[in-house]
Amino acid sequence: MSITIKNSVKWVGKIDWELRKFHGDEYSTHRGSSYNSYLVEEEKVALIDTVWGPFAREYVDNLAQEIDLRKIDYIIANHAENDHSGALPLLMEHIPDVPIYCTKKGVQSLQGLYHQDWNFEVVTTGDKLSLGDKELIFVEAPMLHWPDSMFCYLTGDEILFSNDAFGQHYASEFMFNDRVDQAELFAECIKYYANILTPFSPMVIKKIREVLDFNLPLDMICTSHGVIWRDNPAQIVEKYLQWADNYQENQITILYDTMWESTRSMAEQIAAGIRQGDDQLTVKLFNLANTDKNDVITEIFKSKGILMGSPTINNGILVSVAGLLEEIKGLKFKGKKAASFGSFGWSGESVKIISERLADSGFDIIDDGLKISWSPDEDTMARCREFGINFSRRMSP
Ligand code: FEO
Repeated sequence: MSITIKNSVKWVGKIDWELRKFHGDEYSTHRGSSYNSYLVEEEKVALIDTVWGPFAREYVDNLAQEIDLRKIDYIIANHAENDHSGALPLLMEHIPDVPIYCTKKGVQSLQGLYHQDWNFEVVTTGDKLSLGDKELIFVEAPMLHWPDSMFCYLTGDEILFSNDAFGQHYASEFMFNDRVDQAELFAECIKYYANILTPFSPMVIKKIREVLDFNLPLDMICTSHGVIWRDNPAQIVEKYLQWADNYQENQITILYDTMWESTRSMAEQIAAGIRQGDDQLTVKLFNLANTDKNDVITEIFKSKGILMGSPTINNGILVSVAGLLEEIKGLKFKGKKAASFGSFGWSGESVKIISERLADSGFDIIDDGLKISWSPDEDTMARCREFGINFSRRMSP
């Protein structure tokens, strides 16, 4: 199956409706995904990216129905990660001498993954490849999403092929941003940014400014996952600039796990206190033991403050809380306030442990935290509400 995107540009990728986990078990994909590959048939023919390995056979068979593979003049590997390069080994069996255009680190990654000495052509920002009347212009985009990543831009049709950037894990039969449910689309976009691109936000801003400085007209952004932005493509660029700038909404998120309901009761009383302190704040609670990790990270991304709670177990914290703390350490959130809470029976280390780990992860700890022994009574419930009120009042800059 192919879909004409514009003039001589066709989508020749794979929609993966069944995908529910990506990056191994690292990223939940409730709405599937797609691996977008594009065929540009001008005087010269270029193939931009491929698909994930499990779909290699299907991809190459479909591509061979679309075009005699020997007519492909150039392969562009914007990013070597397996979900874009996985079909290369099979494809290259058919056309072993076709040059593969990629960055220097792209060569390193592709050789590391596939151990093949293909005909690599290294490109850097500003290099051009003529397809006849139109040309591809390459722009290195390190860390969007790997050090090897790059974009390419097709003159004439004014299309930016952005690979991972501006994408989302969202399977859709319609492929275009104006043809899908907008709430679903932007929920997947912000989840993708929060979970994958947050650590690279300074580079996102720098790279977008660099591309805008080229003053290239932009009619479409063809990503490598999810929809093609043809209706006002600048809207997702503007969103990225907002998200990359220490984004936050007027939200506090409470994250906890519980053994015998005491820490859960604390969480609910703290939430009541926050509402009492500032009823304009959105407050959301999640039990980490039964909530999708990536959805939780998206909520943290949207928050100006978080509260994290665990009871004390074996002088430590519950594993669901420890796991999330490990995860968010690598995401390098900035400008977010935090505090911890938890119940205990004997030793009571959990609050200190959580606060220290949140501080190590870049959160601004604005309270020593609240720990209560055994189960909460009227008096300690009131302390939890007071804790919530005080936290809410510290949200203003
Ligand atoms: Fe879609 Fe970084 O791979």
